Amino acid sequence: MDVRGDFPILAQTVRGRPLVYLDSAATAQKPRAVIDAIARHYREDNANVHRGVHLLSERATQAYEAAREKVRRFIHAASAREIVFVRGTTEAINLVAQTYGRTHVRAGDEIVVTEMEHHSNIVPWQLLCEQQGCALRVAPIDDAGELRLDALDRLLGPRTRLLALAQVSNALGTLNPIGEIVAMAHARKIPVLVDGAQAVPHLPVDVQALGCDFYAFSGHKVFGPTGIGVLYGKAELLEELPPWQGGGDMISTVSFEKSTWNQLPYKLEAGTPDVAGAIGLGAAIDYLTEVGLPAIESYEHDLLAYATAALREVPGLRLIGTARAKASVLSFLVGQVHPHDAGTVLDREGIAVRTGHLCAQPLMRRFGVTALVRASLALYNRREDVDALVAGLHKVRELFG
Ligand SMILES: Cc1ncc(COP(=O)(O)O)c(C=O)c1O
Repeated sequence: MDVRGDFPILAQTVRGRPLVYLDSAATAQKPRAVIDAIARHYREDNANVHRGVHLLSERATQAYEAAREKVRRFIHAASAREIVFVRGTTEAINLVAQTYGRTHVRAGDEIVVTEMEHHSNIVPWQLLCEQQGCALRVAPIDDAGELRLDALDRLLGPRTRLLALAQVSNALGTLNPIGEIVAMAHARKIPVLVDGAQAVPHLPVDVQALGCDFYAFSGHKVFGPTGIGVLYGKAELLEELPPWQGGGDMISTVSFEKSTWNQLPYKLEAGTPDVAGAIGLGAAIDYLTEVGLPAIESYEHDLLAYATAALREVPGLRLIGTARAKASVLSFLVGQVHPHDAGTVLDREGIAVRTGHLCAQPLMRRFGVTALVRASLALYNRREDVDALVAGLHKVRELFG
């Protein structure tokens, strides 16, 4: 896959060396097509949406709604009414917690998550538990970082109101068998929210085939801009949700006595949305569709195998997250070296990795660590990037070994 040239930022040198960007799980770089689409919108079409009768507003509205349709096709939702634009995965999950959760969850009920969740799929449920008096239950993982489906099955019970879990773990790379898990939950009439933040950049997603009730992802991790994300929800579920935020665009009528709500998805999109962000996300989806997600998945599969084998050759390196089904995320420790020290040495070599608790402190505790180094690979990474990382890690060992 030779797409590196499509990403202008990757052409630069960092600290005198060619940039090796291995932090795409934190945020992905943007292809020229996305940068240009955003600039074009501001240069030619900028106006508020759904309001004006003037031509610019018509064009902006048309482009914004076209982006919604692109998202619908991208995740194969049944209708564009099921696509709600939000700020990102975090906002999508908070929206569900504060609308679905507030209306369906009572004292004594339970929300089930897993041990591998990002903080943004833990804390919104804790806030809900404090508000509603419900309890958070946590499905365990094994030492390889795979979800223990038998234990999850036992946790799902008559008091469970929602199962919320990641399709791909940001810290371990584990790919969860969502279809199987949804079937397990639905057999008990438990709805499922899938955090797809780390899945959509790596593999084709079909929400109807997965069968999930809600699906959330962020534009910036899928080569689109920051500030835009998506909540998918089945129409019949979104239909019965109360509004989340009140304001412009989400209403049908307003009087001081009573207001009524707009239809889906606008009921859940109060205020001026991130129009340019949605258009940029639409451009990112066009780009990914052109390159082809099946091709990306297979390319990254090979690159992950190459990287895993290469890292295993580094003496003292301990990989955390060795599930059989994985996306291209590699978290590890190098001997006793603190991840921040390792990250600083790598940065001097022009290599960008993530270090720290990876927004997954409970998961760190599960593995008895406080921090990790994480290298995450995307479609623009090459074997040379992996080789540079391995050479950098040898430097780390020399300095701290
Ligand atoms: C699995 C997962 N869920 C949720 C999030 C939160 O995404 P955002 O910060 O874009 O809302 C992230 C970001 O790292 C993530 O990796």
